[in-house]
Amino acid sequence: MFLTACGSSPQDEGSEGAGNAEDTETKKTLRIVTDAAYAPMEYQDKGEVVGFDIDFIKAVAKEAGYEVNVEHVGWDPIFVEIESKRADLAVSSITINDDRKQSYDFSHPYFQSTNKILVPEGSDIKSAEDLKGKKVAVQNGTTGQAAMDALLGKNSPDIKKFEDNNLAIMEMESGGAAAVVADNMVVEEYAKNNPDKNLTVIEDSAFDSEFYGVLFPKGSELVGEFNDAINAVLENGTYTEIYKKWFGNEPNIDVLKE
Ligand code: ARG
Repeated sequence: MFLTACGSSPQDEGSEGAGNAEDTETKKTLRIVTDAAYAPMEYQDKGEVVGFDIDFIKAVAKEAGYEVNVEHVGWDPIFVEIESKRADLAVSSITINDDRKQSYDFSHPYFQSTNKILVPEGSDIKSAEDLKGKKVAVQNGTTGQAAMDALLGKNSPDIKKFEDNNLAIMEMESGGAAAVVADNMVVEEYAKNNPDKNLTVIEDSAFDSEFYGVLFPKGSELVGEFNDAINAVLENGTYTEIYKKWFGNEPNIDVLKE
C-alpha cells in the first residue's frame, strides 16, 4: 500500500511528505511538559493534567496527526526540558517575549492575557502604583515577576518569589504578602472559586498585553506543522468550542491574528 506511484526517491524520508492521502506513517508520540499549578489553564484533577491549554494542545496535536503525553514537571523545569530537547514542546500559559525567543521557538499566539493584581477585599491597594512599599508574591521567572522587577526594582526584598503560583497565593493568604501578581485568567478564576476568601482582582493599564505561545526547542521541525494546526483549530471552530467550555464566553480570535 505504501508503494504508491510517486516513488521518485528510493528512500522516502517521509515526515515532510507531499501531503498525500496515503500518509499512513505513524507519527511519534510527543512528550509535552507543563506546570499544572495554574488553574484553569493547566492543573491537576484526580491525578490527571487538565485545563484550557491541555484541551487546546490535544486538539492541535490531533490536527497535526500526533499522539501526546502531557506531563506536569513544574515551571522552571519546563525550560530545562525544552532546552535539552528531552521534551518536544511545552504548553503552560507561556508568554511570548523577546527574551525567551533568544533561546526557544514559539508557535503563533493562541491566547491573549495580561497580569492582574489579587488582593484581599478592602485592601488599600487599588492600582499597580500602590504596590510600592508592599510585599508582593509572584511565581519566580514569570512575566508577573518581571513586571514587579520593573515596578519595585530588581532584587527588591519586597518581591517574594515562589516556585509555583499556588504557593504565591498561599503566601498572601497567610499574611506574608499584600498581593499576588499573575495572569488575569488565573487570579480571576481563583477569586471566583473561593468566594469565602473575599478576594478582589485589580486591573491596571501599566501591565502589558501578552500573548501565549507553544514553546519548542530552538529549530524544532514541529513549529511549522503546529502553526498550521493552530490555524486550523482557530478556523474550524474547535478553538471556540474549547474556549467556551472553559470560560463560558466567545473568544476574540481576531486579536490572535497578527
Ligand atoms: N504568562 C506568564 C509567563 O509566561 C506566567 C505563566 C505561568 N504558567 C504556569 N503554568 N505557571 O511568564
